Amino acid sequence: MTAVAERPAETRAEAPIETRPVRVKIRRYVPELNPEPYWQTFEVHALPTDRVLNLLLDIKGYQDGSLTFRRSCAHGVCGSDAMRINGVNRLACKVLVKDMPDEITIEPIKGLPLEKDLVVDMEPFFEAYRSIKPFLITYGQPPTREHIQSQADRERFDDTTKCILCAACTTSCPVYWTDGQYFGPAAIVNAHRFIFDSRDEGTEERLEILNDREGVWRCRTTFNCTEACPRGIEVTQAIAEVKKALLYRRV
Ligand code: SF4
Ligand code: FES
Repeated sequence: MTAVAERPAETRAEAPIETRPVRVKIRRYVPELNPEPYWQTFEVHALPTDRVLNLLLDIKGYQDGSLTFRRSCAHGVCGSDAMRINGVNRLACKVLVKDMPDEITIEPIKGLPLEKDLVVDMEPFFEAYRSIKPFLITYGQPPTREHIQSQADRERFDDTTKCILCAACTTSCPVYWTDGQYFGPAAIVNAHRFIFDSRDEGTEERLEILNDREGVWRCRTTFNCTEACPRGIEVTQAIAEVKKALLYRRV
């Protein structure tokens, strides 16, 4: 009897990944050609794994090279691609197209001067950030050894160390939209990071800065900032803790 070799099972071909047509409606602003912002719609075939940033790169690469936006890391780390996506501040590189409807609207973040298309002037945002002295302050003789900090002390301000300065919180705040002088949530988050650091000796001066009429008391606790934060920082809670520290002047 002749032995018959068993035929190896055929390898099943992978099903092709389907692309989906997506309408991308972008609020454009090209001051040298048109003094008013206008809407322009593009169609892009998107993979389920695409992020909104991929759609913008596709449009810029293949449809309109003049489209202007900021991005760098594409991984939710640098904070440079905050924009309003379907009315909510998000990082374009963190929003999966598969979670979005067939039409996506993209606008620049609000409350900062518009420069071109999705690019805003971030200087007022960074000016507020710098004004709360976002660095460790110590007085007296330079230490002869490292500053020791317990795990519990480090935990106290852990949440606010995660800020990547994307401005999604500040530019989703209705108070910031109407009052350009308000420090805004991001500056307060970064003040919190040092106010509650047991090694820092600049608490009093930072609290005094935030006691200003454009400081923490302008917050109306709308929670927009907490909802917008791509890092999951409890922004409203951090602001409330700074208010409390001001009331009791102890941290
Ligand atoms: S607190 Fe969150 S939303 Fe605000 S700037 Fe920092 S990372 Fe961005
Ligand atoms: S490109 Fe860096 S956070 Fe999105």
